[in-house]
Amino acid sequence: APLARSYHERVIDHYEKPRNVGSLNRQAANVGTGVVGAPACGDVMKLQIQVNEQTGVIEEAVFKTFGCGSAIASSSLATEWVKGKTLEEASAITNNEIATYLSLPPVKKHCSMLAEDAIKAAVRDLLDKREKGKTASA
Ligand code: FES
Ligand code: FES
Repeated sequence: APLARSYHERVIDHYEKPRNVGSLNRQAANVGTGVVGAPACGDVMKLQIQVNEQTGVIEEAVFKTFGCGSAIASSSLATEWVKGKTLEEASAITNNEIATYLSLPPVKKHCSMLAEDAIKAAVRDLLDKREKGKTASA
């Protein structure tokens, strides 16, 4: 199909076989949840990370995306990339790296931006939880 041909095969691959679709327990102390929307198109992405408290490393990452193929591919890729990383390392992932890897055209840049924002929001949520936990036990 002409539409399929205009997309990079990595986008198609992640779109057809999205990795790590799902949900984690939002209430869990070691789970961070990021929900972000793209004002430009109304698409919404939820990305969750689960950290191993012993190692500080992200051991699980899942997503649910209501949006275009590029947004689904970007979030799928993001869950793969954050796994095995620390929160700091995960926060350093940029939309440019995602867009470059998936060869997203300029008009689809905001789709990868959604993934970067979702990662950062999930990390922030987890750090907020930790802060509150400290306050609660102080
Ligand atoms: Fe969001 Fe493309 S405009 S699906
Ligand atoms: Fe809006 Fe992709 S996230 S078109």
